Amino acid sequence: MSQSINAAEVAAAFTEAFGSTPDGVWAAPGRVNLIGEHTDYNEGFVLPFAIDRAAAVAIKLRTDNVARLRSSYGEAPTVTIDLDTLSHETMQGWTAYPLGVVWVMRQMGIAIGGFDLFLHSTVPSGAGLSSSAAIECAVATAFNELEAAGLSLNELVLVGQRAENEVVGAPTGILDQSASLLSTDGHAVFLDCRTQESKLVPLDLAAAGLLILVVDTKVTHAHATGGYSARRASCELGAEVLGVSALRDVAAADLPEASGLLDEETFRRVRHIVTENQRVLDTIAVLDDAGPVAIGELLTASHVSMRDDFEISCPELDLAVNTALAHGALGARMTGGGFGGSAIALIPVAEEATVRDAVVHAFAEASFTAPDIFAVSPAPGARKIS
Ligand code: GLA
Repeated sequence: MSQSINAAEVAAAFTEAFGSTPDGVWAAPGRVNLIGEHTDYNEGFVLPFAIDRAAAVAIKLRTDNVARLRSSYGEAPTVTIDLDTLSHETMQGWTAYPLGVVWVMRQMGIAIGGFDLFLHSTVPSGAGLSSSAAIECAVATAFNELEAAGLSLNELVLVGQRAENEVVGAPTGILDQSASLLSTDGHAVFLDCRTQESKLVPLDLAAAGLLILVVDTKVTHAHATGGYSARRASCELGAEVLGVSALRDVAAADLPEASGLLDEETFRRVRHIVTENQRVLDTIAVLDDAGPVAIGELLTASHVSMRDDFEISCPELDLAVNTALAHGALGARMTGGGFGGSAIALIPVAEEATVRDAVVHAFAEASFTAPDIFAVSPAPGARKIS
């Protein structure tokens, strides 16, 4: 199957797997985050947009209590499970994402019974492009409709986040699910993660003669383990010492005083969050004022802050960013949780081939795995596609 989701192909794969016709096919996209990294769980601001790569699920309700799940991932066999036995032990591997959502919705009192489900995704996993949120949001959107549960988009965001936190075990915020559910073609989503209030911000890159290239470094990461939760813990420590409920409440003007109260490392973590929140607000203002051509410096400053203060970059991400900047990018930064995954570069359309070639060459020179490079533009959010 190709990179864009074809509903008929997903339905046909369902029929081949289960021998019947699905009740519908639902798709939810991956995302890039334009700016605002690790600010979500600090109740701050983010500015992501959905990309034209998505997870799609074809589902048919059954009359019993059995779920059968199959995916186009490699040779994965069909998983069959009695829904009454759903537990952290029985939700394993890729099925933790769809079953995690079902588990959360059932906990909320939504009476989801048996179903057959076929999953196909074109969001690369471990690439920092929210492949897991795409699955969660497609499944949550599907059952919200199939069971007439009436949950709002913001409630579906929290369903996906709970599945991620409580079932998958990654202590993530609401950035990814919000991008996947709230996005609209041609817009980025400006989200206040404290109130869940959001605003669509026009982002017409083509009209400005620009495009955004994603450089997937192929360095994979998992947020259920390691650095992500350590960063979250540092932020929580910083907030506690500074006497605020979340780092959202620390202003740039408070930083000199904060530096005297925090250890050196925690201070740098806090400084990233405080300055990153301000960069999101500045990006919104600059977009409104001068358009996307003028946001490059903010993107690059965000990368520097993540590299030096938050320390979530890696040599491959830094090389992608530096090479893009040296060959005509207006700005570049890693996107997503970090420790691998993807970088984005904002470039004039005319420079695309130059930047691509330079990055491929630089990776080969450094003996890094060849990156996957592709252009993205703001795409629609989760929806029924058949
Ligand atoms: C991951 C998490 C998000 C967010 C980003 C960093 O994508 O899932 O909640 O914290 O990292 O901005």
